[in-house]
Amino acid sequence: MSEDLFAEMTETLFEDKSILSEEYRPDVIVERDDEIDAYRSALKDVLFGRNPANVFIYGKTGVGKTAVTEHMMSALQTEVERRDAAEELHVHFRNCNDDSVYRTVRSLINSIRGDEGETFPETGLSTSHALETLYEEMEELGGTFLFILDEIDHLSDPDTLLYELPRARANGHLDAARVGVIGISNNYTFRSSLSPKVKDTLMEKELAFSPYDADELQSILTARAEKALVDGASEDSAIRLAAAKAAKDTGSARQAIDLLREGGDVAEEQGATAITDDHIEVAAARVQRGRVQDKLRDQTMHGQLILESLARIEASGDVPARSKEIQAVYERVARNWGHDPLTTLKSIQNHLADLTMLGFLERTEQNEGRAGGVHYRYELALDPEIILETRESIENQP
Ligand SMILES: Nc1ncnc2c1ncn2[C@@H]1O[C@H](COP(=O)(O)OP(=O)(O)OP(=O)(O)O)[C@@H](O)[C@H]1O
Ligand SMILES: [Mg+2]
Repeated sequence: MSEDLFAEMTETLFEDKSILSEEYRPDVIVERDDEIDAYRSALKDVLFGRNPANVFIYGKTGVGKTAVTEHMMSALQTEVERRDAAEELHVHFRNCNDDSVYRTVRSLINSIRGDEGETFPETGLSTSHALETLYEEMEELGGTFLFILDEIDHLSDPDTLLYELPRARANGHLDAARVGVIGISNNYTFRSSLSPKVKDTLMEKELAFSPYDADELQSILTARAEKALVDGASEDSAIRLAAAKAAKDTGSARQAIDLLREGGDVAEEQGATAITDDHIEVAAARVQRGRVQDKLRDQTMHGQLILESLARIEASGDVPARSKEIQAVYERVARNWGHDPLTTLKSIQNHLADLTMLGFLERTEQNEGRAGGVHYRYELALDPEIILETRESIENQP
């Protein structure tokens, strides 16, 4: 019997589901014409054998910074190959997530050397040695190098690298090679954390990517759906709804695409022949659930226990609740799971303040009259069911 388990699953709404995945690179970028124009003029010098400008791209997550950058790089490469005045172009991507300058430089060296080359040692050498090696590798090849440093704000010491690289030529380290740095970040405060001399160079050209509105997301989704889904497998209104939801929440194209893919899964589960508004609604609730669960898992155990306590209080209707009442339930909940509860009211109140700041709780102020002073009352800002469910699964993990 078990070998027939999948036998009836013959229908799919997806023509090519990978087109809705994170790895997919769209061959058309829509709704970013102004940004592409500005990007184009920032990179123009490359075509004429001049030093490339340094570019800094910022904008929230999912607004096309990486997609547009990759698109620009391949278009630039194509054009460079057509022109005699342009020097050979070498583009190297690096995600700086929690990276040191040494590791970043090392990875650029390895990327230039390619798979066949000897890898640069992970430790044992100084950062300046690594930089020197990088310059040597670049000199050997010559031409124009563009280093794209994604999530540049995660670099442990951005000043050093961002000061050194753009000046390598002026400082006599490079002669045959030219270098431009493209920094990408979704942290708007990153700029002000840099030293003034770095700011001046890296920020030569700054490009801000704003969140997408519903219309823009709709055209991004429509273009994607056309390739990813079987003909007629999505209602226009469903795409509009997914776009509207993502626009209202974050303005992220990634979120909109995820919603459509999840909507497709829901539609398939229900045996439908097209994705409808209802499927998108179910998908949105699922995604929201997943997000809350992830956020909850990131909290400390006591933070979680306090949230669980509030969920239990809410089930009996006694919200908003005061910290003392929460503490009483919390002690029971903690012991129930076999944890030692925190003993002071103050520590519970600190957790409550943190959880409020993180958006888990809503706090109301209650004036108790002359003698009583001001008290806070708390209740959950989200569905208690999700909390209880997630807590169960965390506690029951092997
Ligand atoms: N203008 C666009 N046209 C087509 N697809 C787009 C566009 N903008 C974004 N996308 C798609 O949306 C998804 C997210 O975009 P991207 O990865 O470029 O965002 P990002 O700004 O780099 O986000 P993060 O800061 O999280 O890295 C990708 O699948 C990308 O292909
Ligand atoms: Mg990106």
